[in-house]
Amino acid sequence: MVPPPLPPPPGPATVVAGAVIENGRVLLAQRAAPPELAGRWELPGGKIEPGETPPDALVRELREELGIDVTVGEPVGVHVPLPTGHVLRAYAVRRVAGTPSALDHDAVRWVGAADLHEVDWVPADREWVADLVMLIGPE
Ligand code: C5P
Repeated sequence: MVPPPLPPPPGPATVVAGAVIENGRVLLAQRAAPPELAGRWELPGGKIEPGETPPDALVRELREELGIDVTVGEPVGVHVPLPTGHVLRAYAVRRVAGTPSALDHDAVRWVGAADLHEVDWVPADREWVADLVMLIGPE
C-alpha cells in the first residue's frame, strides 16, 4: 500500500517579491495598503497560496498586480522575517509580456541604482538595496 503524501513541514508562510530589471532600472510599486505601509515602495509580490511553489506564486502575483507575465530567476538577497511571522523572499524575474500598470498599487516606477538608497521603501525590502544595486550595475 502506498502511504498518503505527507503534509508540508510546518514553517513560516512565505511572501515572494520580484525584481524586474530592465535597462539599468528596477521596477518598484507603491503600496496602497495597509495604512502603515501605504505610500511606501516595494518589490511587487504577495503570499504563496496552498499548492504553489514560490515561482508559481510570483508569476500569479505579478500578473494580478501589474498585468505582466514573467519568468522567475535567481533568488536575491537574504530571506527577511516579517512582523506578521511570514518570511519574505525576493527573486530576479524577467518580463516576457505586458506593460506594468498599478492594478493593485498606487503607482509603479522604474528606479536606477543611484536612486535606490533614497527610495521610501517598506522596511523589509530595504534589506535588498545593496543586492539590487549589484544586480542592476552602474548607471
Ligand atoms: O502584498 P501582500 O499584502 O500580499 O503582502 C503580504 C505582506 O508582506 C504585506 O503586508 C507586507 O508587510 C509584506 N511585503 C513586504 N515587501 C514586499 C511584499 C510584501 O514587506 N515586497
